[in-house]
Amino acid sequence: TYVIAEPCIDVVDRACVDECPVDCIYEGRRMLYIHPDECIDCGACEPVCPVEAIYYEDDLPEEHVPYLRDNALFFFDTLPGRQAPLGSPGGAAHLSPLGVDTELVASHPPQG
Ligand code: F3S
Ligand code: F3S
Repeated sequence: TYVIAEPCIDVVDRACVDECPVDCIYEGRRMLYIHPDECIDCGACEPVCPVEAIYYEDDLPEEHVPYLRDNALFFFDTLPGRQAPLGSPGGAAHLSPLGVDTELVASHPPQG
């Protein structure tokens, strides 16, 4: 899967969303998250991000490796302010923005 990492926080450019052919990039509150089971690894989103927040999972710089697990947690775990996991909705358009973030993102100092 491709992964959105820390540089997206508080920037939320959304150029990536327009590129994704399967609509698997979901908006939280302070950043966007790629659904690891819905992403087909086409790579179209990666070059359009102006802050280089998107990486293939094996190419993540070391400081962004935690975001591989964190993108998945956004869908498959409970979150502060969201009691039930989101699961695999099969498309972001009718859901975004979801108004919540993972703890990793929510606790990040303001940036951007
Ligand atoms: Fe974020 Fe870059 Fe997309 S800033 S919303 S990952 S284009
Ligand atoms: Fe979509 Fe990017 Fe995956 S465009 S299919 S999230 S590689």
